[in-house]
Amino acid sequence: MKVLVIGSGGREHAIVKALKKSSRIKKIYAAPGNGGIGCDAQCVSFSAVNIASMTDFAVETGVNYVVVAPDAPLAAGMVDALERKGIRCFGPDKKAARIESSKVFSKNLMKKYGIPTALYEVFNNAEKASEYVKLASLKYPLVIKADGLALGKGVIIAENRDEALNAIKLIMTEKKFGDSGLNIVIEEYLTGSEITILAFTDGKTIKPMISSMDHKRAFDGNKGPNTGGMGVVAPAFRYTKNVADICERTIFIPTIQAMQKEGCPFKGCLYIQLMLTTDGPKVIEYNSRFGDPEAQAVLPLLETELLDIMEAVTDGKLDSVDIKWSNAYSACVVLASGGYPSEYKTGAAITGLGENGMCIDSFALKNGVIVYHAGTEKRGNSFYTTGGRVLNVTASGQTLNIALETAYNAVRTINFDGMYYRKDIGKY
Ligand SMILES: Nc1ncnc2c1ncn2[C@@H]1O[C@H](COP(=O)(O)OP(=O)(O)O)[C@@H](O)[C@H]1O
Ligand SMILES: [Mg+2]
Repeated sequence: MKVLVIGSGGREHAIVKALKKSSRIKKIYAAPGNGGIGCDAQCVSFSAVNIASMTDFAVETGVNYVVVAPDAPLAAGMVDALERKGIRCFGPDKKAARIESSKVFSKNLMKKYGIPTALYEVFNNAEKASEYVKLASLKYPLVIKADGLALGKGVIIAENRDEALNAIKLIMTEKKFGDSGLNIVIEEYLTGSEITILAFTDGKTIKPMISSMDHKRAFDGNKGPNTGGMGVVAPAFRYTKNVADICERTIFIPTIQAMQKEGCPFKGCLYIQLMLTTDGPKVIEYNSRFGDPEAQAVLPLLETELLDIMEAVTDGKLDSVDIKWSNAYSACVVLASGGYPSEYKTGAAITGLGENGMCIDSFALKNGVIVYHAGTEKRGNSFYTTGGRVLNVTASGQTLNIALETAYNAVRTINFDGMYYRKDIGKY
């Protein structure tokens, strides 16, 4: 089989490495990929949202299966376009991808089907929204969300009325996120622990993966600006069997049934962001794909071949696959460029990596540390930074502490100019 993985980050590197375990795959392409992915797959250099180039390439090269990993191509209908050419895909079609690409769609879905989530109102007009946030009965903080995709920046937590009015102005009047802000959701602020559940679903059956917990803030102590994610541990220690059972019954199964009833069954990886509140687990949002960096911590624990599960999802036969997980713990530490998530430099030489992109340190090698590349390019036998999040160093162990220690030991053998990382992953 020839497989194409669309995307260019650490998540895609984790997917490529997991797929490589299948002997049925003869060739893996990645579009556009990155320096590290290029050590495991052949990179082809067109953009992940270029539907025409992607379908032409897949047809001409005889690609049999495509994994569409990022949100933007899914929302743009990449799966629909490839399937029209007869190419099998992993990922939801455009209609089902609305569960992520429109927060108005997903909130209304949850309300209609009684799936627990924060109370909310939808607005398509800045004046009405502004009147609403002035209501004396409203409690602050309030959460204001642009409807559409906004690179993870479209959510503003307003501490008071002025901040709420500013958020409405920024999103709806100044159109900071373009058409993504034509509609907004204003919702109740929830408190509790945030947990991520990734789940395989073929639209009928849903099989949750190992739980995980991302660390979104840039600095230690959960301080600093929100980022794409600075580290992950799996499983999430607060996600007990009891919580899992409640989620299965009140969230997971109702969600896939709701999508079926709406005529847009969801096939692929459904990402469910949960808040464990004192009122029980509630959905913060859904994503229509693997999380980044959650995938980098979760996929190394998968013992069943990823390709077998993905194909079962595509064929609507997920119920027939027995998915096995390691009972180890996994920890992923993100190495970022100084200044990220604001401005940062690129082009720095990375030391500590071999020509295959993995750690050269003997302790790391002995302990199976994996370095997933997020923002790198390879020149000669060396790697250089190209992004804000650069490398994702992942280790597993029989306890969370062992996994964390092993990952941090490896991290300390890698360096580039301006490199920074959180030293307290797994402590929150
Ligand atoms: N209702 C809410 N209560 C408290 N925090 C929230 C709420 N909604 C979102 N957040 C916080 O904002 C983050 C981003 O919101 P989310 O809906 O996941 O949007 P996106 O990931 O698309 O930016 C969440 O991970 C969570 O930390
Ligand atoms: Mg989110």
